[in-house]
Amino acid sequence: MKNILVNGGAGFIGSHLVKYHLDKGSSVWAIDNLSSGSLSNIEPVLSHKNMRFTQGDLCSCPELQEAVEWSDRIYHMAAVVGQYNVVTYPVETLSTNITTCERVLALMAQTKKKTRLLLPSSSGVYLHSPIPQGGANIEEEMLSLPSGHFIQESYCLSKIVNEVMSLSYVHEKKIHCTIARLFNTIGVHQTGRYGMVVPRLIDQALKGEPLTIYGTGLQTRSFFNVHDTVVGLELLLENPESIGQIYNLGSEEECSILDLAHRILKKTNSSSKIQYVPYKEAYGIDFIDVEKRRPDLKKMRALTGFNASWTLDQTLDEIIASKRDKRESA
Ligand SMILES: NC(=O)c1ccc[n+]([C@@H]2O[C@H](COP(=O)([O-])OP(=O)(O)OC[C@H]3O[C@@H](n4cnc5c(N)ncnc54)[C@H](O)[C@@H]3O)[C@@H](O)[C@H]2O)c1
Repeated sequence: MKNILVNGGAGFIGSHLVKYHLDKGSSVWAIDNLSSGSLSNIEPVLSHKNMRFTQGDLCSCPELQEAVEWSDRIYHMAAVVGQYNVVTYPVETLSTNITTCERVLALMAQTKKKTRLLLPSSSGVYLHSPIPQGGANIEEEMLSLPSGHFIQESYCLSKIVNEVMSLSYVHEKKIHCTIARLFNTIGVHQTGRYGMVVPRLIDQALKGEPLTIYGTGLQTRSFFNVHDTVVGLELLLENPESIGQIYNLGSEEECSILDLAHRILKKTNSSSKIQYVPYKEAYGIDFIDVEKRRPDLKKMRALTGFNASWTLDQTLDEIIASKRDKRESA
């Protein structure tokens, strides 16, 4: 069994990785400063005999060196995320996301062990690239920056820097790193506090409040269940051919935000109304949204044969059931 380090292990995806690997019999060390994550996400496994948790800031905490030396596998999930955070704290977003990643890479380069690192990047790196033929983003596509809108894109820029930095470490320092560009992972434990659309709309529907849609609602996204994300990330990390490569990971099922809101209203049996909110009001800046985001999964499939197990409807049902349980037991 392996030693697995999950940076950002109290966060949404991190907490699922923690549970998944403990269930498989591995030892897990999670480090998190609880800035957007929560201890409640890992509370049921905190006393597990193979679990260790350190509350610390990955920009500076001394425990990171021992944790990297201890680990066989690292999932570096820690980052400042969420559109509200990103536009309010662009400095912290850039600085945290770049510093924490660079610390992990530098410590890996010092160890003799051939530890493998999974670095999550984001579909956001496709930024405002023209929609490709066939409508799905491919890994080799050109990335373009909207000049003058850097504040909105501080998160995506930090992810591009992380990609370039980690590939440089693979090239020059011979570390083992795989990059996964995640497309809208959703599921239980995701908070709507920082702008994530699915938990926010479900919370509004359950409270009987208006479902707030930013922009026209015609923009489409493809939502991917976190259980599928965790399996996909492990498949990539365990395959040595993935080292030094970038893979899209997400769902091919596309859905407009308006359609999403209608599905949520129906599933929650809510009488809430839909309310359109201009981007400027939602984020406080002139925000340019992308029309469409769907991954091309050919590269991921060719390497791993991976196919998702969850549909969007099943995922929404799971999140709604969990939120209802929480409300009843509160
Ligand atoms: N959820 C998605 O759809 C999605 C899409 C693309 C990429 N990603 C990436 O996946 C990773 C996990 O995202 P998530 O949705 O689980 O977000 P999350 O906010 O739930 O998880 C991030 C975790 O990192 C922790 N953290 C932040 N800064 C830290 C620091 N300086 N020191 C220690 N811990 C720190 C937070 O407290 C949180 O627990 C992130 O790198 C994110 O960029 C997620």
